[in-house]
Amino acid sequence: MMAPLYRPTCYVRNCTRSRRSERSSPQHSDSHGRCRVFTEDSEWQRSTHLLEFILLTFLLVMAETDVYKVSILGKDSIHCGFHLVPYIARTVLDTLPASAYVLVTDTNIASLHLDAFKQGFKEELSRLGKQSRFLAHTITPGETSKSREGKAVIEDFLLLNKCTRDTVVLALGGGVIGDLVGFVAATLYVPICSFFHLRAVVHPYRRSMRGVRFVQIPTTLLAMVDSSVGGKTAIDTPHGKNLIGAFWQPEYIFIDAAFLETLPPREFSNGMAEVVKVSPILSFLPLQRDP
Ligand SMILES: NC(=O)c1ccc[n+]([C@@H]2O[C@H](COP(=O)([O-])OP(=O)(O)OC[C@H]3O[C@@H](n4cnc5c(N)ncnc54)[C@H](O)[C@@H]3O)[C@@H](O)[C@H]2O)c1
Repeated sequence: MMAPLYRPTCYVRNCTRSRRSERSSPQHSDSHGRCRVFTEDSEWQRSTHLLEFILLTFLLVMAETDVYKVSILGKDSIHCGFHLVPYIARTVLDTLPASAYVLVTDTNIASLHLDAFKQGFKEELSRLGKQSRFLAHTITPGETSKSREGKAVIEDFLLLNKCTRDTVVLALGGGVIGDLVGFVAATLYVPICSFFHLRAVVHPYRRSMRGVRFVQIPTTLLAMVDSSVGGKTAIDTPHGKNLIGAFWQPEYIFIDAAFLETLPPREFSNGMAEVVKVSPILSFLPLQRDP
């Protein structure tokens, strides 16, 4: 069962506020030790709690094995569910044959979720009797990694490990990891020098294009509802954010809501802001329904 995303963490009696900045405020408690700002709860915070409640109710109603598929660009490539790691490993290995699967994440997420992926891929590879490699690479969290230098580090990792053009790159993380790893995948070009390269070049799709296939596994709410979906990838430069990039559609986007259990509340609010921003816009758009 999923733990509540917002826990009442205030140490003042009868207080349910969770933000550290509010707790440290001198105005925080009155002479009776009651939280003074509690009654001033903003509309924004109330709506965030309401949306969180709706999301949690939806997740609790979903069985753990349910996977909802959403079509994008005519392909059922968005798979949503709960505790999907074994499903992700099975789907990727079954449908995207490759000599190497390279998962890139940041150190925060690696400490929480990387072992599950290593285990999942190991089990599935031995079940299928495949010789493919599963490699994991971790980078420093934060926007500073989404740079030319950050891109070069991942490229060097792939090249040093002799990854070939049939490699599948998996981006496990928030918008930073998705944008950065997606751009590496879009621009990587590996010359032909082995059996696996040869196999890749024979494939008609691979023959005509640069770049390697990639899979998005978003772990922040913002990445789940926004950055992982549209195929936009980019890095920052000293002259501005997202100034160099490419469109590179992922083969799959696996939206596993269980990752939200470990997401810091502040990051959850960031994503919720995006949901609140987009919802009124969508309500004005005519929805296209399948016949
Ligand atoms: N490509 C697009 O269309 C698009 C759209 C919107 C935003 N973006 C980009 O997204 C980036 C911001 O992404 P973000 O808000 O996801 O931030 P982020 O990727 O920096 O992640 C925020 C922090 O949360 C941590 N984290 C992530 N998932 C976690 C989890 N499940 N448990 C614990 N910790 C976790 C990360 O380690 C990081 O420290 C920006 O660079 C922005 O430009 C891209």
